[in-house]
Amino acid sequence: MRRVAFLTSGGDCQALNATMRGVAKTLYNADPDTEIIGILDGYKGLMYENYKKLTPETFSGILTQGGTILGSSRQPFKNMRKPDANGMDKVLAMVNTYKKLKLDCLVILGGNGTQKTANLLREEGLNVVGLPKTIDNDIWGTDMTFGFQSAVNIATNAIDCIHTTAYSHSRVFIVEVMGHKVGWLTLHAGIAGGADVILLPEIPYDIDAVVEAIEKRAKEGKRFSILAVAEGAISKEDAALTKKELKAKLKDNPYPSVSYKIGAEIEERTGHEIRITVPGHTQRGGSPCAYDRVISSRLGAAAGELILQGKYGYMVGFRDNEIIPVPLEEVAGKLKMVDPDSSIIREAKSLGISFGTKD
Ligand code: F6P
Repeated sequence: MRRVAFLTSGGDCQALNATMRGVAKTLYNADPDTEIIGILDGYKGLMYENYKKLTPETFSGILTQGGTILGSSRQPFKNMRKPDANGMDKVLAMVNTYKKLKLDCLVILGGNGTQKTANLLREEGLNVVGLPKTIDNDIWGTDMTFGFQSAVNIATNAIDCIHTTAYSHSRVFIVEVMGHKVGWLTLHAGIAGGADVILLPEIPYDIDAVVEAIEKRAKEGKRFSILAVAEGAISKEDAALTKKELKAKLKDNPYPSVSYKIGAEIEERTGHEIRITVPGHTQRGGSPCAYDRVISSRLGAAAGELILQGKYGYMVGFRDNEIIPVPLEEVAGKLKMVDPDSSIIREAKSLGISFGTKD
């Protein structure tokens, strides 16, 4: 009889439950006596022994349910080695809970920070299997993360809805898409939604080039322009600053987010009427799309198979349409970013999309 615990950590997304269902089904099908424990609210539950026993019924009907039935929380990796407010050693506490529960394996669903802590627990001697969750699609070692395609659909729908009203009023619209460090979501939603300008953290923008792209469209008789702007879009001037200099510069920044700054600059230079839409956390909400249901079920099944084989210390990844185990030590601490020289950027430029650069 196996005892396995599941844990969901970091920002949630649409297919967490679908993925856990995939792991659970695979384990129960191989051995109906498998015991599954749900650790509540991410690593916090593992630190403070907050968990509950799950049964096959728990996983019934959750394929289509967004969010996470276990709850989640953000426990930054950089604080893991720092004691909590009561002086408790967090890593030791997590190891102790694992031992107390007599687990054979801990299945950890999460993004970059989560995978780093999963690797830390592996180094501490725990049997762990990671699963790549995030709407950002920025986890190294996997072509795709679950949650990404659902979020692309939602952000695309936001841009689609803006199209009709932008046309009616001859306005310039900015749709701010999630992604502080990487722009995969903005890039895909921007292309899918027919955005005219896409601004990504990986390609610092030149406001003159952004304005030129908008004015060119206006001269061509286009009634509106739509910009898809990542939360982490950055101007080339700001990108040239050190972290410290940027922090000092942003101290008195009057704008709630980068889109408002860009919007104000465009309005000032062109006189165009600007509107800003921030779909925010709706991008992480609702039911997983069909693509995510398939990929999360496959990833979950593959994680279950690894556990049945006693192969631990891997994150289950997706490459070239195959599910593959990727050593956690390779995944930990790396980000998968948009390469400004990649073919998707070239193709988007061929379509006439501006990335806010002069080329
Ligand atoms: O990592 C997922 C993500 O949704 C990012 O795209 C976004 O920048 C961030 O989380 C928002 O975090 P929070 O939910 O903690 O505000």
